[in-house]
Amino acid sequence: MPRPQDAKTIPSYRILPKLLRDPLEAIEEIGRLSAGEIVRLGIGTFRPYLVTRPEHVQHVLNNAENYRREGLLWKPLSRLIGEPSGADPAWPLKKGTYKALFSGPNIASFTDDVARAIVEAVDDLGRRAVGRPVDAADEMTRLVYRAITQLLVGDKITLDEADDLGRVMATATTSSFRSRMLLPFTPFWLPLPGDRAFHRAVQAVDDLIFPIVRESRRGGADGGDIVSRLIRARDENGRGLDEQTIRDGAVALFVAATETSVTILTFLWMVLDARPDIAARLYEEIDQVVGTDHPARSHLSELRYAKMVTQEVLRLFSPGWMLPRTVVADDVIDGVRIRKGSIIVVSPYLTNRLPDVWPDPEVFDPERFAPGQSRDRFAFLTFGGGPHQCIGSFFFTIETQLIMAAMLSRYQPVIHGSPSIKPQLWLTLKPRERIQFLLRPRHAASNV
Ligand code: HEM
Repeated sequence: MPRPQDAKTIPSYRILPKLLRDPLEAIEEIGRLSAGEIVRLGIGTFRPYLVTRPEHVQHVLNNAENYRREGLLWKPLSRLIGEPSGADPAWPLKKGTYKALFSGPNIASFTDDVARAIVEAVDDLGRRAVGRPVDAADEMTRLVYRAITQLLVGDKITLDEADDLGRVMATATTSSFRSRMLLPFTPFWLPLPGDRAFHRAVQAVDDLIFPIVRESRRGGADGGDIVSRLIRARDENGRGLDEQTIRDGAVALFVAATETSVTILTFLWMVLDARPDIAARLYEEIDQVVGTDHPARSHLSELRYAKMVTQEVLRLFSPGWMLPRTVVADDVIDGVRIRKGSIIVVSPYLTNRLPDVWPDPEVFDPERFAPGQSRDRFAFLTFGGGPHQCIGSFFFTIETQLIMAAMLSRYQPVIHGSPSIKPQLWLTLKPRERIQFLLRPRHAASNV
């Protein structure tokens, strides 16, 4: 057997200037230079490995004991959501609870409630946005919060509080992460730009969530929402979770479910604005399937093109553009030596654009997801893979089909100005500029 080789290093002078100027350009350049090989990146002393080929990614993500979801790069998040799953002793209990909440039958039982909440939120949006540009991130945050609040905290929160929660959570997830991600070795006692806004937002999140946890406890926690379920969860020794862990578990789900969904929905409206051919096919499908009804669970299986469009947006604008792991023990992947203690990065952004797997990768083409198409499971990485794979992907797809149907059966979203559709890399991938859109009623009666 040939001896394992060390990975080639892409030197810092090829990456760093671009990384500081525009991280997206840097990652694209890294993709070209690595050409699917396992490489190390000459960034700082920790020189992370990068893997992009589906079979290499599969090795890393499936082998979660050796490639742990923990370490320095997760630190900025811990004050908001607790420890990352790979380092959290309470994780098995939390994960079991999440899985029960997101199981197919449970989702089916609340889909019509989610659909109703979405229709009401779109009514509200119509009152603000017909003929008048509104901020896409704010509006999509409000919409997504309305869709998931019922499921996460039941009726323990008013609509106004749900809107507040959406706002403070958005501040918490955007304020200081960029500087903390770019300067991961800066100690937490040293203030960086955005830190104060972050701490204020986390305090506001605590002020909203802790009372819900305490109130649910007092009331017997018999609901189907995540807070009640976390309160009732017991390990094999009959031990439950403490208040902080329950709070972290609920907040982690809010964060996982919203940032990502808001980004995808914003890019969705941008794509439809830029591609009238795709929008026209979508309107046709929605008019045929939903017509003037309110969208409901019964429509989902027929909203096929809506699902294909969603998947193609997910491919090109994967909100998680990198998934870092810490290497526990030395390993060899495809003849390349991987050293313990180092960081290894899987990049959905690059894997979802590998030209030999996705021909013309930059072209937006929903037909890639037409029934009958097949490819390596680890070639589409937007929801990750292996034991830490996203548990919300099914819910997200349903939620997006319902949002599309509720919006597009009545309105045509029109992007204000001509913002670039090229994303930028933040903690997650995001639009480059502030995106605004307005709604144009498609039928006279929609002009609320
Ligand atoms: C566009 C929507 C979404 C995207 C792109 C997305 C993406 C991801 C990715 C890439 C991972 C794996 C992270 C890693 O391996 O390091 C993940 C994990 C996770 N996602 Fe999602 N997600 C989305 C929506 C949701 C929703 C709606 C929920 C739940 C309400 C959710 C809950 C979770 C949880 C709990 C995990 C952690 C799983 C673990 O560590 O075992 N996500 N998500």
